[in-house]
Amino acid sequence: MEARKTQSGKYVSIAIDGPSGAGKSSMAKRLGREFGFLHVDTGALYRAVGLAALRQGLAIDDREGVEALCGTLDVRAELSESGQRTVLNGEDVSSAIRVNEVSRWASAVSAFPGVRRFLLDTQRRTAETQNVIMDGRDIATVVLPDADLKIYLTASEESRAQRRWEELCGRGENVPLDQIRREIRARDEADMNRAVAPLRRHPDAVLVDTSWLTFDEGYALLKKTVSEGLDRVR
Ligand code: DC
Repeated sequence: MEARKTQSGKYVSIAIDGPSGAGKSSMAKRLGREFGFLHVDTGALYRAVGLAALRQGLAIDDREGVEALCGTLDVRAELSESGQRTVLNGEDVSSAIRVNEVSRWASAVSAFPGVRRFLLDTQRRTAETQNVIMDGRDIATVVLPDADLKIYLTASEESRAQRRWEELCGRGENVPLDQIRREIRARDEADMNRAVAPLRRHPDAVLVDTSWLTFDEGYALLKKTVSEGLDRVR
């Protein structure tokens, strides 16, 4: 399907929010390719800030230090042939941000208001110049409240833990399943209960629950939701 604007001439934006490990990024990436939309994985931007703070040797709860560090950072989501490339001060950190330790750091730094302000502009600007499908935690509630289509993609804690574990094993990171389960629970707690932009289902968001579905089945359900949503927008 061709990417195009709505009748009012505005670019189309699709917001996909949901908890860690629900498959948002991999599914949104595929949707982006199929529908001709730019996919923006906003979690990767928070991961880049987390990585920078970790490398800098800051304490994980050093809010002022991390917020000050943001002033020295250039974080970008660039389009490459294989999808989004995340660039931190000119360095491609797309792989470095995927290790398990960085997940914890990303969750911690994403609670700091200065970090959220720092990344807000980057995210909004991207959606002003092209059709986007953006995934994260606060896309419908904060970043793009006027998104044409809002989706809340989720799955049970157990199935998300299982998928994350398989993904890490596939990359040679052998973390026990039980640890992953605890980390997912801790991250849900942190993401849903932080003071600034907590993870919430927007009242207009369509709920897509993939708990009992394989990746392909979940993707098919999501794609149908997007197709129907776009028919209403155009
Ligand atoms: O989607 P992810 O696991 O790559 O995200 C990493 C962390 O970033 C996650 O713990 C929550 C945070 N995040 C956020 O606060 N807001 C977003 N829009 C995206 C991610």
